[in-house]
Amino acid sequence: MTENGRIKIEKLLKNPVFHTIRDISDEMGLRSYVIGGFVRDIFLDRPSKDIDVVVIGSGIELAESVAKKLGGLKLSVFKNFGTAMLKYRDLEVEFVGARKESYQRHSRKPIVENGTLEDDQNRRDFSINALALSLNKETYGELLDPFNGMKDMQKGIIRTPQDPDITFSDDPLRMMRAIRFATQLQFRIEESTFEGIKNNKERIDIISGERIADELNKIVMAEKPSIGFKLLELTGLLSIIFPELQAMKGVDKVDGRAHKDNFYHTLEVLDRIVPTTDNLWLRWSAILHDIAKPVTKRYDKKLGWTFHNHNFIGTKMIPKIFKRMKLPLNEKMKFVQKMVDLHMRPIILSEDIVSDSAVRRLLFEAGDDIDELMTLCEADITSKNPEKVKRYMRNFKVVRRKLKEIEEKDKVRNFQPPVTGEEIMKTFGIEPCKAIGDLKAIIKDAILDGEIGNNHEEAFALLLKKGEEIGLRPVKK
Ligand code: CTP
Repeated sequence: MTENGRIKIEKLLKNPVFHTIRDISDEMGLRSYVIGGFVRDIFLDRPSKDIDVVVIGSGIELAESVAKKLGGLKLSVFKNFGTAMLKYRDLEVEFVGARKESYQRHSRKPIVENGTLEDDQNRRDFSINALALSLNKETYGELLDPFNGMKDMQKGIIRTPQDPDITFSDDPLRMMRAIRFATQLQFRIEESTFEGIKNNKERIDIISGERIADELNKIVMAEKPSIGFKLLELTGLLSIIFPELQAMKGVDKVDGRAHKDNFYHTLEVLDRIVPTTDNLWLRWSAILHDIAKPVTKRYDKKLGWTFHNHNFIGTKMIPKIFKRMKLPLNEKMKFVQKMVDLHMRPIILSEDIVSDSAVRRLLFEAGDDIDELMTLCEADITSKNPEKVKRYMRNFKVVRRKLKEIEEKDKVRNFQPPVTGEEIMKTFGIEPCKAIGDLKAIIKDAILDGEIGNNHEEAFALLLKKGEEIGLRPVKK
């Protein structure tokens, strides 16, 4: 271990919660260890609040005494799992007895027996996740690293401690975890581990959609998600869990004319959207923005490759994909659909003279999501031609400026019709009918086209005029 690593461990193990676990373990004659992700994250400088403590013996009994000693802390006990959890300051500490697990072929549910520390380390997914630190007094802070996890961490390698076929077939979710860690940490998956994923890919079928989605979302929110999607593709997992994205890979050539590879283009767009704490769904929009290109692809002798209406068809494909992947079918999905539907509008707009009325219409349709739409569109410009990129970016600036000007002037972002259907019925003394909808649409279009202002006075004047044209007269009050 490096000097730096030693200092980090010493600092962390000064926390009173570890001192208490040490004292009580010694008193009870139990051996205990901090293990897993928390230890890994110390060395990777990823602050973590979840601590797993493994005890050779009963985790629950140790936890009960520790909770008592720390002033009667609340303890959540999960008897079925043999675990207990307490919260100390901002830390969550989970206690469990060391286990030995054996798996059956068709289930993720293992047969669990009590075991030694080695048994417990053996059943873990990757060498970097099998590190343990001793918490007993005479060996306090000693690192137990049977699979050279430290070395793998330094070299940036994801590797299973045992035969990868056993590790992955025991728990196929680990195939997703391997790719997720490789993406988050920008590590390489070691060759035989990689082969193990390829060999066991079909086993992903026994994993629930929710758990796959959890891992996928972690990949999506990593600094560079393309790493994960390329690995999913290379291992063959992508075609099982996300065939629509797999279908984007490849290039067709007719008359010597090829279109771009939409899989790699999509990943480039995705990487270009900087991850923030709340833009998971904008990143999903990037993944899905061209999802209908494979099904809409045509070759035209004059025009070359076309993907007519792919934005609209894309929005129609999304519910099925979200449902299968157990992603939310609520306003998050609607947001993604809206982004996919509108993703070409700013580009088309910027290719032409940027007219006020086109900008107003875009603002009306995008509403409060306009900034995110612009971010997606800017990320979508992946051309290798610097002149082209410059031109688009310049035009987008004009679009953004116009959006701001028009929003300030006309307030159409959250457009509410200045004349309601109710008022139209009262004004002309009519019952609900088609004419009301027609009149509302005329007013809306007039506002969006800039023929009248977005206010009640002008809208009402237009209503009277248009009403008269179809034979409606205002009733006297
Ligand atoms: N683990 C495992 N196989 C799994 C899940 C977890 O072997 N399918 C082990 C690993 O040793 C892991 C530990 O259980 O380090 C804790 O799992 P978890 O809290 O889910 O993950 P972390 O590794 O802590 O990583 P993260 O918090 O980023 O999910």
